[in-house]
This record gives sequence, C-alpha cells and structure tokens, in this order.
Amino acid sequence: MANVVIVGSQWGDEGKAKIVDLLSRNADYIVRYQGGSNAGHTVNAGGKKYKFHLIPSGILNPGTICMVGPGTVIDPKVILREMNELKDQGVDISNLQISAAAHVTMPYHLLIDQAQEEARGSKKIGTTCRGIGPTYADKSSRSGLRMCEFVDPDALLEKLKVLIPEKNIILDRLYGLEPLDIDKVFREYIEYGKQLAPFVFDTAAIVWEANKARQNILFEGAQGTLLDLDHGTYPYVTSSNPVSGGACVGSGVGPNFIDRVIGVAKAYTTRVGEGPFPTEVKGSSAKILRAEGTAWEEIGTTTGRARRVGWFDAVLMRYAIRVNGMDCLALTKLDVLDDLEELYVCTAYKDIRTGEVYKDLPAKSNFLKYVEPILERIEPWRDQVENSADATEISQLPEGALNYVRYLERVLEIPITIVSVGPAREQTIILEDPIHGPRRVLETAI
Ligand code: GDP
Ligand code: IMO
Ligand code: MG
Repeated sequence: MANVVIVGSQWGDEGKAKIVDLLSRNADYIVRYQGGSNAGHTVNAGGKKYKFHLIPSGILNPGTICMVGPGTVIDPKVILREMNELKDQGVDISNLQISAAAHVTMPYHLLIDQAQEEARGSKKIGTTCRGIGPTYADKSSRSGLRMCEFVDPDALLEKLKVLIPEKNIILDRLYGLEPLDIDKVFREYIEYGKQLAPFVFDTAAIVWEANKARQNILFEGAQGTLLDLDHGTYPYVTSSNPVSGGACVGSGVGPNFIDRVIGVAKAYTTRVGEGPFPTEVKGSSAKILRAEGTAWEEIGTTTGRARRVGWFDAVLMRYAIRVNGMDCLALTKLDVLDDLEELYVCTAYKDIRTGEVYKDLPAKSNFLKYVEPILERIEPWRDQVENSADATEISQLPEGALNYVRYLERVLEIPITIVSVGPAREQTIILEDPIHGPRRVLETAI
C-alpha cells in the first residue's frame, strides 16, 4: 500500500491528468485537493478525448472512488455539465463523491472575478474568470457557502438572503453591474443542489477509513507549484495551494498519510495568463513548442487562450522539487521537442541589475522581472531516424531524447520515472516504478 501526491511542477497544464489516469489503476481512492473549474484536464484513452475541470480523471477507471475534496471550490453548473458529458461518453460516474465541506462558486463570484480583472487594466492577472479568487476570498473571510449548506434548501435560502444583498452593493456601487435577484438565484440553484445531493459525502472521514483498510490513496493537485498562492509567482497565481502540502489540508488528512510525492513536468515550459516567464520563447521555436497545427496544440482547455511557451527552466524546477519535497518526476511531452532545430535548458539566472548569477530562486520581491536566463545548448535530435512519439520503451527513444532525459536528471538531482511521448495512454514509458522505485536521495540523513 502507498499513498501518493501528484503535483504540477510548473505553471499548470503539465499533463497531470494523463499521469493521474495512468496511476489511478493502482489507486482505490483519488482525492482532488484544491482548485475549481479553473483547471482544464484532457485525457486521451481508447481513441476518445475526455475533458475534465473538477472531476478527477481517474473516474475513467471503474474501480476507483473519485473525490472532490474539502479544499476545492465547486461551480455546481460546471460539475453537473461535466457529469452529464461523461455519462454521454459512456463513463460510469457513480464513484464520484463531493466533499460536504467544499465551498461553492456562485454567480456573484463569476461576476466579481470578471469585473476585478477589467478594473485591474494593464495589471490584470489573466485569471480564468471562473470565480476562483472571489470564492476562496469568501471562504477566508467566513462568508462562504459550503456544499453541505448548498444541498439543504433552508440553509441555502438563509445564506443567500444575507450574501446576495451584500454582493449587490459591490456589483452595483463598485462595478456598475446589475444586482442579482435572490429568488431567481435560489430557484435556479436549488435545482442544482437537488441533483448534486446524492454525491455529497464526508469525504475526509471516508479517506480515514480507507487508509485504515490499507487502501491506496492518490491525492491529485490541479494547477502547478508556480501558481501556488503562497509559493508561486505572486500575485500572478491562483487562490489555493497546489503544492504537496496542500494535499493534507485540502483532503483532511495528516502528513503521515503521504508516502510519496510525484511531480509532473513538461519537457519545456508553458504559462497561461500574465506574469513573469524568464525562459519565454517567441518565433519559429515557439511555433514548434506550441505544437501549432497539431491535435495537442498548446491552447488552454478552460479558456481557449494560447499558452505562452519557453525552454525548460531548471532553476524553477529545483525550487518546485524543494517546496513539494518531490521524490521523482514524470516528464511529459518529450515528443514535442522532436522537430526543434535548437534546444536549450535554463540552468541559472543572471540578475540584469547586478550581474549576479543564481542557481536557486532567491526570495526577493519582483526578482523574476529582472533576470536573464543562462541557457545551456542541448544537441537537438530532429535528424535522427527515430521519433519519440513512436517509442514504447526506453531503447526506442532517439538517442538525443534519452540524453535529454538523463541530462535533466543530473541537473535536477531527481529520478525521472515516467516519460510521456504523446497524448495517448499507450504513449507512456515507465523507466522505473514511480511509486516503489528510486526516489530523490535525501541530502542530510536523519
Ligand atoms: P493538466 O492540466 O496538467 O492535466 O494538463 P492539460 O490536460 O491541460 O494539458 C496537457 C495536454 O497535453 C493535453 O491536451 C494532453 O492530452 C496532452 N499531453 C499529455 N501528455 C502528452 C505528451 O507526452 N505529448 C503530447 N504531445 N501531448 C501530451
Ligand atoms: P490546470 O489544472 C494553467 C492560471 C490562470 C491565471 C492564474 C489565476 O489545468 O493545470 P484563476 O482563474 O485560478 O484565478 O487564475 O492561474 N491558471 C491556470 N493555468 N493551468 C491551470 O490549471 C490553471 N488554473 C489557473 O491562467 O494566470
Ligand atoms: Mg490543464
């Protein structure tokens, strides 16, 4: 038995859902521990494409109980749409369990998120406008609405009578928007509550029992380390804690539940929305990194925005390894690099103001705005006959691609246990057992 956390190492969209789908075969339970409908996850399985925002992609595995945990925020409309789409695709969703303690994203959260972004002007964050920040803000200021109240009509009405007049002042006076009608919102959302009620559980208590019964639990993070509210590139972050520590708070378990932390990283870097991006690339290499014209073009699943692209950033990755206590890595999208004429990895930063060189990320205000990446050239492999995308085992990888994987392992000092070479389930090479195999060697023995 082993309980593992799957965490995004960069700015999201690392291919977490594909890795969760893969590892869910060994998991009895999956708990998504933070975020909401800002997440967009795609899985290609059996020739079909499945899209997820809130439901763990492990739902494709019929034997796994999939929980949307206490640390998440749930937009009832989005989760119901997702449930219906999955049912239409023939997926059994009876194993879905939503935490009674998760907070609910209401229409005023969506309106305020959009209005705040507009008001920020050139300083906008580039949020997904899915109401995430305002829902978590209400949770922190203790004016939130939890799933247990949402599915109880009396409790819902009582809350809406207090919350909507308060939000209407903000909508009207601050943003000049139409106020919301309590009855109209109640009538619409009470229906969603009825449909969701059978799926609402005390998920933390169920996980406790599952652990006692020595079941395997997989904790699924959305977004990525650099979007973490406390440890990411603030203020260009999301409003929750994707880092592995968030798995405990967001699921309601103690740290001693966690046996292993597996990071997911792309073989390059992408970012959606605003904020610093030291290794960002434009021009012809960017077209290849963005996979323009292919079925897996780098376009945000949730908002349809083009993702910004850049070289692999080992400085940020070392930081992600540290703040998550990562044991090993799954490296995705290696195939995308096959056609590149030039390939680089950022191994350090130079502060353009002082000339100082940094191999690790210092805690300095606005630091990333003033850095230049120090890039190491990697020999590209486009002239080699083999393609990464066709490889089903390590010996079939182009020599250059395998050298790249081994180079990253050396620079990051962490084992890469999984290499993904395409969107399909079969396009995955297991180098070592990610759950029981080698892990990062602790620098100081206890
Ligand atoms: P997540 O948010 O981390 O789950 O990642 P997304 O699903 O938003 O984005 C990853 C995209 O890349 C999806 O469209 C996947 O189908 C696709 N993908 C995952 N792994 C690979 C890979 O190894 N190669 C390629 N070409 N595409 C991949
Ligand atoms: P997955 O789970 C990539 C980004 C937004 C914006 C910032 C804040 O698919 O990896 P928010 O709406 O959360 O307040 O936006 O975070 N963002 C993501 N970027 N993948 C995601 O999720 C993201 N979820 C939020 O683009 O920059
Ligand atoms: Mg995504």
